[in-house]
Amino acid sequence: MSNKLVRHSCFYSETMAQLKNITVGILGGGQLAKMSLQAAARMGIETAILEKHGNSPAGKLTHHEFIGSVENTLLLKKFAQQCDVITLENEFIDHHSLKFLERLGKTVIPSSHTIALIQDKLLQKEAFAKAGIPVPRFVAVEKNIEFKQLASLVGLPFVLKSRKMGYDGYGNALIRTGRDFNEAKRRLSARHSTLLAESFIDFYMELAVMVVRTKKELKTYPVVQTIQKNHICHTVIAPAPISKNLMRDAEELAVESVKAVHGYGIFGVELFLSDEMIIVNEMAPRPHNSGHYTIEGCVTSQFENHIRAVFNFPLGETSLVKKSAVMINLLGKPNPQKASERYLHGLKNLDVHLHIYGKQESRQGRKMGHITMIGDNQKQLVKKITAIEKQIRL
Ligand SMILES: Nc1ncnc2c1ncn2[C@@H]1O[C@H](COP(=O)(O)OP(=O)(O)O)[C@@H](O)[C@H]1O
Ligand SMILES: [Mg+2]
Repeated sequence: MSNKLVRHSCFYSETMAQLKNITVGILGGGQLAKMSLQAAARMGIETAILEKHGNSPAGKLTHHEFIGSVENTLLLKKFAQQCDVITLENEFIDHHSLKFLERLGKTVIPSSHTIALIQDKLLQKEAFAKAGIPVPRFVAVEKNIEFKQLASLVGLPFVLKSRKMGYDGYGNALIRTGRDFNEAKRRLSARHSTLLAESFIDFYMELAVMVVRTKKELKTYPVVQTIQKNHICHTVIAPAPISKNLMRDAEELAVESVKAVHGYGIFGVELFLSDEMIIVNEMAPRPHNSGHYTIEGCVTSQFENHIRAVFNFPLGETSLVKKSAVMINLLGKPNPQKASERYLHGLKNLDVHLHIYGKQESRQGRKMGHITMIGDNQKQLVKKITAIEKQIRL
């Protein structure tokens, strides 16, 4: 080979190296991973997905789909080799697996330390209480503790919660009597988690705030109202119809909560508003259902800022593009429509943004998709989107 050619091929491979993409690895392949992946792809960032089963909403959209358990260290190693940075779409991944990735020299955002604090609702609440953040009165449910003792500590009624793996209310029970307690204790303990009890908050509104943080920046999204049905998030209204002072308080508490767990990345903080007092309920260390409206409703979506944050890139603007945005979850219903009908009803309204996650199977109450509307008249948006939701069955 002539010198000239050798020089030329060197130059070529350097150019290739510069253009070689960066890859974000996401543990989990559900809708949150899918929407994060879509944001990453738009910015020219590659993605790798690790999920228990194949054909997941996110897994089908990447060339780098790793199928299997996060406890499989061989698989985890292969996955890590593919990724520059690793993040997650749910907090249930054992923090030891994240620690393993960190020991391999990978950056995991949020860190295993933050996840260890958040994935156990008792440790999470202790971290908040230690930082002076108002939370419901709470206590660990030790093995032989009696109903009366718990009631005297946290009042009646109280909420019994699985410390780990609870979501969409599946790990919770409202307790009024000793009988409720015994039944719920049996049921929730079968989920292999220890329990905690906390006082019931007679809130009149639930709020949520998304917070995104890098080593250099911290930004909050608008405070939103969330409406749960059967403990599952159903409607999100942005901004929440509350006073400026309350908004500021909610924002401050959300920021303090993230700092209390040394959090970097994106976080959804859930709060209760009761008698003009705001109490933190819990936090999710990832994009959150209460932030789906940001895809069309804000200058930069929660998913894009999530991806920016894991790479420690500059964050995007978080303000609303119109005065209001409203989102409704499309939850699984008993008789799903055929695709043709579902798209007909979902798409005939010109100003509705339809998201269908592409899950293989629909179940009652399962999050199958969502719709969002943005505009300047919040009351009208709520009325219109509520009517549209009724026309779509997934
Ligand atoms: N202490 C409480 N007092 C009143 N309602 C509660 C309390 N804790 C939870 N809830 C209700 O149950 C819903 C789900 O509970 P949460 O603790 O957020 O669990 P999950 O992890 O399932 O989201 C909350 O959004 C709220 O509506
Ligand atoms: Mg919750």
